[in-house]
Amino acid sequence: MIPRFFVPSPCRILGIETSCDETAAAVVTDGFDVASSVVSSQVDLHARFGGVVPELASRAHVQLLNPVVAEALIEAGCAGSDIDAVACTIGPGLVGALLVGVSAAKAFALAWGVPFVGVNHLEAHLYAAFLEEPDLRPPLVLLLVSGGHTLLVAMDDHLRYRVLGGTIDDAAGEAFDKVARFLGLGYPGGPAIDRLAMDGDPAAVAFPRALLDEGYDFSFSGIKTSVLTYGRKHPDCPAADIAASFQEAVVDVLVTKARRAARQVGATGLCLAGGVAANSVLRERLLDACIADGLRAFVPSRDMCTDNAAMVAATAWWRLRADGPTPLGAGAEPGLRFPCD
Ligand code: KG4
Ligand code: ZN
Repeated sequence: MIPRFFVPSPCRILGIETSCDETAAAVVTDGFDVASSVVSSQVDLHARFGGVVPELASRAHVQLLNPVVAEALIEAGCAGSDIDAVACTIGPGLVGALLVGVSAAKAFALAWGVPFVGVNHLEAHLYAAFLEEPDLRPPLVLLLVSGGHTLLVAMDDHLRYRVLGGTIDDAAGEAFDKVARFLGLGYPGGPAIDRLAMDGDPAAVAFPRALLDEGYDFSFSGIKTSVLTYGRKHPDCPAADIAASFQEAVVDVLVTKARRAARQVGATGLCLAGGVAANSVLRERLLDACIADGLRAFVPSRDMCTDNAAMVAATAWWRLRADGPTPLGAGAEPGLRFPCD
């Protein structure tokens, strides 16, 4: 990637993330060095409703954002005048939640006289891996699995991507959340299934592996229905066995396709990103697959897999050098897609 826009060095970027139910701010220097990363989760606020309530999320962002930004600046040992650019997630996400971060980021940028950078949340999940592995080099295959997205992407160079496949119905995280709700595990479902599955037998039930040998698209709505049907027909089957078998089937499909994609595009490594990348079995299987195939595996720490603002600030550093500042007239884009050529 040839930089087209001059950025100073060191370049301290304040990142802000409010796309869903985490209010986060971070200061990252030169795209790699995390000076601070503060995440205030709203999980407890939404748990009793069994999912994120958009209006509540927006209101909580309004209350939490200023203190979270202040804490990120204090932890990084900086004042507003030390910040060289302000970045925030502009999409995809909940429109009201996004608007809180976008408005605040523009106001900070204007007040401090520095560039504003609007960041794609999906691309930010990818750059979370680069934050922890500065020697990560394309060509890579990225498996991005979150609550709203399941994507298999070929990264040919920095900021240059080809989307190979995505989900045709539910996202992987959505399937985890729905199955968890059926098993009475509450919200968020992914971590609860992950924990429960540790006591279960992954071979107890052979749940379907949709589209396993066909292309790079995914489908997770069938397995969700199979779990519900099986659970109703076999009320005595331990929930841990159902959770472990469901998780096994989802991970099997994700890893099989990612591996095949890496082989086909000649990638040197496989990179995991997004909230579901925090799943223990997925992490283990991807590492095993990479060892078997001679690929480098990039598996961010669990904190970097779930929503945070360090990944937003890191992405902004790459985007600012390539594209320059985002105009202040740009708005939130709830339906933003993964950027590709
Ligand atoms: O990336 P993320 O924090 O937010 C979105 O951008 O969607 O992902 C949240 C998703 C939720 O569906 C949650 O259940 C799932 O990630 N998740 C997990 C685990 N931790 C979070 N899924 C499976 N196993 C986990 N350990
Ligand atoms: Zn996310």
